[in-house]
Amino acid sequence: MSLFAGPVRPLTRELNVTNNEEKINDRITDPHDPGRMTGAAAAVAAEELAKIYPGDIHAVKGISFAVEAGEAFGLLGPNGAGKTTTIGMLNTTVKPSSGRALLAGRDVTRDPIGARSVSSVVFQDAVVDRPLTGRQNLELHLKLWGVDTSVGRRRLAELTGTVGISDILDRPVATYSGGQRRRTEIVRALLSGPEVLFLDEPTVGLDTRSRHDLFDVIGTLRERTGVTIIITTHYLDEAERLCDRLAIIQSGTIVACDSPARLLASIGPEVLELRTDDAAKAAAVLRANGVEPDDVVVIGQTLTASLRAINGARALELLEDGNVPARSATARHPNLDDVYLRLTGGPILSPADRPE
Ligand SMILES: Nc1ncnc2c1ncn2[C@@H]1O[C@H](COP(=O)(O)OP(=O)(O)O)[C@@H](O)[C@H]1O
Ligand SMILES: [Mg+2]
Repeated sequence: MSLFAGPVRPLTRELNVTNNEEKINDRITDPHDPGRMTGAAAAVAAEELAKIYPGDIHAVKGISFAVEAGEAFGLLGPNGAGKTTTIGMLNTTVKPSSGRALLAGRDVTRDPIGARSVSSVVFQDAVVDRPLTGRQNLELHLKLWGVDTSVGRRRLAELTGTVGISDILDRPVATYSGGQRRRTEIVRALLSGPEVLFLDEPTVGLDTRSRHDLFDVIGTLRERTGVTIIITTHYLDEAERLCDRLAIIQSGTIVACDSPARLLASIGPEVLELRTDDAAKAAAVLRANGVEPDDVVVIGQTLTASLRAINGARALELLEDGNVPARSATARHPNLDDVYLRLTGGPILSPADRPE
């Protein structure tokens, strides 16, 4: 047998493909929201999608989700979580090791050209040609996609106007700021009129102001075009602002998937944040008063606790009565960082990743 022969594929395997297709349609209706959609009707449907890179690197470990047409869906997780690999499998640039994915009903493995024809991607690394002007880049893209001239001209004018780059279109891209280049990239991706737009960390490397501006622009584009958005980010504020639903990914696995509001509600009404030299004692006091062990996370000298059984004022009182040494103590509303911390036991951003 040749060294390069793939695994033996008996006929039953071919038959299973058909069964799987039925399965994806059935299964995806059930777990999340019964009756809302089928796999085929969803803009994006993934079932047990997995990627093992050479060297036995399990980058994505069988994830499933369905995204409705027009929805903005976020993949949230730290570096190395498997976000880019997931986007790659959905946009046909990374071959899944197992599992299935459909884009507007087109199977990414069996009909990659069909899947590509209904989607577009803005990669983490820039693809626009720097010596060319913005207009040249965009017109080239219209030609590559064979977009009808008058349709293309109209789209180009509308999209560049919406993102605010009309007046710099005739300058070489090399002279653009980071934010302007990102806008050009996003316009490029939308010129073909895709049903699904993938954005992989669109604001990474931008300063805080440009990051916020770009986020507004993405929100506006979404309203105007109705495009379905799959976005990866490790910025929680972005995820909360743009996304209807979020999948929190850790080490290739979805650990939670819901709307930002419901994820926040899962934390309870208040969070206690305590800086202390004796986190163990603080944790013991809280646990003795009904705070669940899973709701307490200690990193270094900072203890964070989701409060359900007792409120913030009572928790502070108990710590004082228990003589827990506190450098600072506050009770506040929960944020997505708390959700992430509780689910994964770690912060989403390493200090190096934090925006200025
Ligand atoms: N081409 C590749 N070959 C081998 N390992 C890879 C490759 N691409 C990514 N990985 C590994 O897969 C894991 C997930 O990576 P990635 O999908 O890029 O995560 P994220 O986008 O969330 O930062 C990481 O451990 C990464 O090192
Ligand atoms: Mg990535």
